[in-house]
Amino acid sequence: MMLPDALNELVGSATASFEQAMTPADLENAKAQFLGKSGRVTELMKGMAALSVEEKKSRGAAINLAKQAIETSLNARRQALANAELESQLKAEALDVSLPGLQRLQGGLHPVSLTLERIEAIFGSMGFDVADGPEIESDWFSFTALNNPPDHPARSMQDTFYIDTKGEDGIYYNLRPHTSPMQIRHARAHVRKYRQDGGSDTLYAGEMPEIRVIAPGRTYRVDSDATHSPMFHQCEGLWLGENVSFKDLKYVFTDFCRRFFESDDLVLRFRPSFFPFTEPSAEIDIQFQQGPLAGRWLEVAGSGQVHPNVVRNMGLDPEKYIGFAFGMGPDRLTMLRYGVNDLRLFFDGDIRFLSQFQS
Ligand code: DAH
Repeated sequence: MMLPDALNELVGSATASFEQAMTPADLENAKAQFLGKSGRVTELMKGMAALSVEEKKSRGAAINLAKQAIETSLNARRQALANAELESQLKAEALDVSLPGLQRLQGGLHPVSLTLERIEAIFGSMGFDVADGPEIESDWFSFTALNNPPDHPARSMQDTFYIDTKGEDGIYYNLRPHTSPMQIRHARAHVRKYRQDGGSDTLYAGEMPEIRVIAPGRTYRVDSDATHSPMFHQCEGLWLGENVSFKDLKYVFTDFCRRFFESDDLVLRFRPSFFPFTEPSAEIDIQFQQGPLAGRWLEVAGSGQVHPNVVRNMGLDPEKYIGFAFGMGPDRLTMLRYGVNDLRLFFDGDIRFLSQFQS
């Protein structure tokens, strides 16, 4: 059935206003204008009252068709709006699998710890054990056993933090100013273990295995500037046997430095010095041949042949046991290796500084 033009226009304008509705609420308003109680279709229905029965039939059928067409386009628009809504919801909730995930921040080792690990690995490969000991140390282990008796002027070489009450044993304690007490502690434990294992009480050369140990750890002194911190690190070394000489010290320490700095042409200088626990004693200086520090002598350790009194305090006969010891500064080695010029940076805990050392 062909619709009269007026009805066609009505369907057209209804469809157009539905198309303009951008939300379900707009669409309901538009629907009311055509299909609502006083909408235009309803008005047309009301207008039929005056028509004859015949006219009513054909006019009614035409209006109904128009109404159905309007409802069809209303439903189409409803569906379109619902689809659009779903579409935008899906878009908003979409997962972008190419986005970086939530990452757990990874921690890393402190640069000084990295150095200690390196030191342990290099000396470990030369057969050295690693020992650990107390940071609050007795006067005897810190000084006296190391051939540095009470009131000896050499005690002032270290600006020691003393603890002002005596321990239960009646001995004064201090925050160890160096790792050298570990020479005595480790050697005594070594000798004791050997004796317990059935060795004779008199130690004859050759019966006891050599003592070859490094002892890294924290040390304390009343000292603070760009190159000194009241808490710092040292690493002690000790090699004691029947026939261990200064020549072995030179070889071992040179090999260590070259491997530590990965520089085969590194040069070492053993400069005569004094320490109560060694005789003769030497400061060890290194010189890089390349890089920003090339040509400068840099002090990295104290060293020497272990003093007979120290060997005696280890429980050994200095006529039979001989060897060398050294004490070096891992903080200093770390500064040289990474080109850091202020020691305090290591202990400030600033993540911007520390994160630069993560490998
Ligand atoms: N303990 C010394 C210091 O703190 C370093 C040192 C020098 C250690 C000579 C040694 C050594 O074992 O033989 O300055």
